[in-house]
Amino acid sequence: MKAIIPTGGMGTRMRPLTFTANKHLIPVANKPLILYPVETIAATGIKEIALTYNPGQLDIIQNFLGDGSKWGVKFTYILQENPRGGLANIFQVCEKFIDGDSFVMHLGDNVFTGGIKNLADHFRKHKPKGLVGLVHHPENVRLGVPYFDENGKLVKYVEKPENPPHDFAVPGVYFFDPIIFNCFKGKEKITPSPRGELEISSAYQWLIDHKYDVDTLEIEGAWLDPGKVQDWLEANFYLLDLNTKTKIDSEFDKTVKVTGRVTVGKNCVITNSHLKGPLNIGDNVNITNSTVGPFTSVYNNCVIIDSTVTESVLMESVVIDKVRKNIENSIIGPNSNISQSNHSEHYSELLVGELSKISL
Ligand code: DAU
Repeated sequence: MKAIIPTGGMGTRMRPLTFTANKHLIPVANKPLILYPVETIAATGIKEIALTYNPGQLDIIQNFLGDGSKWGVKFTYILQENPRGGLANIFQVCEKFIDGDSFVMHLGDNVFTGGIKNLADHFRKHKPKGLVGLVHHPENVRLGVPYFDENGKLVKYVEKPENPPHDFAVPGVYFFDPIIFNCFKGKEKITPSPRGELEISSAYQWLIDHKYDVDTLEIEGAWLDPGKVQDWLEANFYLLDLNTKTKIDSEFDKTVKVTGRVTVGKNCVITNSHLKGPLNIGDNVNITNSTVGPFTSVYNNCVIIDSTVTESVLMESVVIDKVRKNIENSIIGPNSNISQSNHSEHYSELLVGELSKISL
C-alpha cells in the first residue's frame, strides 16, 4: 500500500496566517501541522508517500520535508495544477505514482491522535474496494456525511449536507483499491460538483453505485481538524494537553518557577518568570519578568518581557514587550511585535495587515 498527503488548497479559512505561510507548515502545539500526517502514515508501515503540491509551493514543502529518510519513508512530490481541483483530483494526479497498488490518502490538515493503524489493518485484511473512517461530530454539516442502510452498510456519501440524519462524519482519511482510477474514465466518470471540485464523496459514490464494497470503521482516539482558526486554536490546546512532557533543555536559576508539564528547547534565556504547563517553548526563546502558560505554545526565537501570556500561540520570532494587559486566547503570527504604547492611556498605535483581528 502507498500513501498520499496533499499540501495544497487555498488556505482561505486560515487567513491572514496563510497570506504568508503554507497552512500545512503552521505549527500546532509547536509542531508544523504536516508532521502529524507524515508520522501517522509512517506508523502504519507504509514506505512510499506522495506529497501533492500546488504551483509555486514545491520549494517550501520540499525544503522542509526533504526525501522522507528522516521518517524511514520515501517522498515523491507531485504537482496538482488546480488548487481547487478537489480531493478526488488529488489522487487522480497520482495515478502513475500509485501504479496499480492500493493506497490511503490522509489530508495534510487532519490529526488523528490515535493513529490510523486500525483502519490500515482492516483494509489490508478485508480488502474492500474502499474504506472510510468515521467520527462523531456535532457540526457534520460542514463535513462529508455517510448514510447507512438498516444493516449499517454505507449506501450514500454526501459532502456537507444541509440536514444530516445523525452525527457521523467522514474525516480526512480515505482508503482505495486502484479500481478507483476508473471513476475518472469512460461515460460514467465523475464530474465536478456545483462548487467546481472533483469531490471525494463522488469517488466513493461511484464505488457504491458500481456495487463495489465500501467499508466504514470508527477511528480510534481523537480527530482534530485545524482547518480554520478557532479549530486550530482548540487543536493546539488539545495537543499541548495530550503530548506535553516535562523536558527542559536550557538552564535557568531559581528566579524561574515551573508548575505543571513544561517543555523548554535549547538556548533559551529565562529569568524571574513563572512557566505554567501545559506549555511548550521552542529554541532560542527569551523570557524575562513574565508569566507564560498554561495551554500556550511559544515557537523558536520569541521574546517575552514584563508580560503575561496564557492560552495562546506565539509563532516564530514574536516579541511581546511590556504589555500591561494579559494576552489570552490569541494567535500571533511570525515576526509580530506587540508592545505597550507610551501613550496607551489615550490611544493605541497599530500597524495591522489585512484580515487581522484585534480586541483591545
Ligand atoms: O477535514 C475533513 C473534511 O475534509 C471531510 O469531512 C470532507 O468530506 C472533505 O471534503 C474535506 O473538507 P474540507 O472542506 O475541509 O476540505 P479542504 O478544502 O479544506 O481540503 C482539505 C485538504 O486538502 C487541505 O489540506 C487542502 C487540501 N486540498 C484541497 C483541495 C480541494 C488540496 O491540496 N487540493 C485541493 O484541490
